[in-house]
Amino acid sequence: MFLSTIPMAARDPILGLNEQFSQDPRNDKVNLAVGVYYDDSGKIPLLDCIAEAEASLVASRLARGYQPIDGPTAFQDAVLPVVFGPMGNLSDARRIATVQTVGGTSALRLAADFLRQWGGADHAMVSDPTWDNHRGVLGGAGLYVGTYRYLSAGAKTPDLDGMIADLSSAAPGTVVVLHACCHNPTGYDLPAEAWSAVMETIARRQLIPLLDNAYQGFGDGLEDDASVVRTFLSSGLPFLVATSLSKNFSLYGERVGALSVVCPDTEAAARVRSQLKGLIRTNYSNPPSHGGRLVTTVLSTPALREHWQAELESIRLRILRVRQHLATALQSYGIDKDFSFITRQKGMFSYSGLDAVQMRRLREDHGIYGVDTGRICVAALNSRNLEQIAKAMACAFQAQAAALSS
Ligand code: LMR
Repeated sequence: MFLSTIPMAARDPILGLNEQFSQDPRNDKVNLAVGVYYDDSGKIPLLDCIAEAEASLVASRLARGYQPIDGPTAFQDAVLPVVFGPMGNLSDARRIATVQTVGGTSALRLAADFLRQWGGADHAMVSDPTWDNHRGVLGGAGLYVGTYRYLSAGAKTPDLDGMIADLSSAAPGTVVVLHACCHNPTGYDLPAEAWSAVMETIARRQLIPLLDNAYQGFGDGLEDDASVVRTFLSSGLPFLVATSLSKNFSLYGERVGALSVVCPDTEAAARVRSQLKGLIRTNYSNPPSHGGRLVTTVLSTPALREHWQAELESIRLRILRVRQHLATALQSYGIDKDFSFITRQKGMFSYSGLDAVQMRRLREDHGIYGVDTGRICVAALNSRNLEQIAKAMACAFQAQAAALSS
C-alpha cells in the first residue's frame, strides 16, 4: 500500500520554522524567520485603512458568490497603477493582462505554468541566493531551475559582472526571475544604473523576465520601489510581474496577489488572459473575495488610499530605524566587523552573514529563529527585543570568527 511507504518531506525552510517556533515553550523566543512586519509592540498590525474598509464591507453585507476566474475588473484596475504607475496611456494599460491570484506565491506559480505551457520555457534561472521557495514553485511547474550569480565574493554587494556573464550563457527562452525591489533574502538590490545592462542581456539572449514584486513599499518607498517594473514597461520588452499585496497591506493570511503579463498589444493581452483563466480554473478555480475586496476598497477610496500610503511609509521608516539601532548595537560589542551593511540592505530582511551552524545555535541556545541561510527579518525587531537579539547575534559572530580562525 503506497500510503504506508511515503517518506516524510523535509520541513519548509521558512514556514517550517514557524511551526517549530510555535512549539517552543520559551517566553523570550523571537521569530525572525518569516517575512512578516511586526510593529514595535511585537504585533502584526491591522492597518487603520483596512479596518475602515472592512467595517464598510461588513456593513454592506455583500454576498459571497464566486468571483470571476481572473478576479474582479475593479481589483485589476485598482492594482495596475500601484505596480505600473498612473496609466495616462490607455494602450499601455490594455496590453497588460492582470489577474488576481492567491498571494504572490500563486502569481509566481501561475506565471511558471503559463510559461511552461505557452512560452516554450523549460528552464528558469534564479539568483544565487534567492527566496527559498522559488525553486519549489518553478520546479513544481516542470521548469528546470538553475542559478545566476548575484552576490560578490565578499557578499556585500551584487555581482553585476557575474550576473551578466551567467545570463549571457542562458539559452533563449529561459525564464529569469528578478527581484523588483528588496531582494529576498539578501536585501541588496542592484543599483539603478545596472538595470540597463541586465535588460540589454535579456533582450539580446531572448530571455523571459519574471519580476517578483513581493515587497513594494518596504525599500525606498511605494513609487521608488516600482522603478524597475516601470523601466521594463518603457523598454517595450515583454515581461511578467508577480505582485504580493499581502505584505504591503498587512493581509498575510488573506493571500492577496496579482500576476501581470505585459504583452505587445491589446489583442495579445486578451489571448494571454484567456489562457491564464484556463490555468486558474483548473487549479483553484477563482480567487477568494475578502482580501481582494479590502485592497480594492482602499485603493479606490482616495482618503483610504492616502491613509494606506502613510501607514506603509511609517512601517518602512520604522524598519530603517531598527536597522540603524541593530547595526549600532552590534558594533558596540567591539567585534572586528563593519555592521553598516545592515543599514544598506533594503526591505524586511538582513542577510546577516551568519552560517547555518550559528543560526541553529541562535535558535537552540537563545530562542531566536532565523533562516539557516543567515537571513533574519529585521521587521520583527522592536525596542524590547533588540538588545537581546543584538547580544545573541554578537556571540554568534564571535563564535563564527573563532571557528574560522581555528
Ligand atoms: C518569506 O520569504 O519569509 C515570505 O515570503 C513568506 C514565505 O512565504 O516564505
